Amino acid sequence: MKFFIDTANLDQIREAQNLGIIDGVTTNPSLMAKEGISGESAILDHYKAICEIVDGDVSAEVISTDFEGMVREGEILADLHPQIVVKVPMIKEGLKAITYFSQKGIRTNCTLIFSVGQALLAAKAGATYVSPFIGRLDDISTDGLRLIEDIRNIYDNYDFETEILAASVRHPMHIVECAQIGADVMTGPLSAMLALLNHPLTDKGLATFLADHKKLNG
Ligand code: G3P
Repeated sequence: MKFFIDTANLDQIREAQNLGIIDGVTTNPSLMAKEGISGESAILDHYKAICEIVDGDVSAEVISTDFEGMVREGEILADLHPQIVVKVPMIKEGLKAITYFSQKGIRTNCTLIFSVGQALLAAKAGATYVSPFIGRLDDISTDGLRLIEDIRNIYDNYDFETEILAASVRHPMHIVECAQIGADVMTGPLSAMLALLNHPLTDKGLATFLADHKKLNG
């Protein structure tokens, strides 16, 4: 399973890249705003800076909600860097834009997916990635991981090439369970990835190794 980091923070992207654990980045307008990035040229420069840090795909989201606007924005984003994947919301105009981009060879990430029906439509339209938001489903007492499982079954039934990008990942067990189900990619915060590191027996074992070494070597 590929690991994408879900942030627009350059320091965190750099840290994850240096650890060698990420295969790409996802952003959204809220994450860009969180970093204080505003204005078209600053936004485009920021995406370029992200592409220079990581080797993999970088999702950059359109703001328009009409077909023409999405196409205009998406083409600018795709021209920016070969690693850019145009992120498009799951709305009717978005589906039309995904179909257009797919025919033009521009890669897309269909975002704000909350049902299998939506995931099926995105795959039919030729989305490169589909982003089901598991944490936000869990937030409303619905099983987010079950959605990943259901999409996996349907995509496998018909050999859809669209990759399942589990999004809105909040904690380490989301990551482990996504991998067990067979999500192609997960995107989450660095904190959730780093939490996979922790085990008390690792800490205890290391402390013992170092203490035993010190006894003989000072
Ligand atoms: O990038 C989309 C998604 O990962 C958002 O996550 O935590 O805001 O629900 P969250």
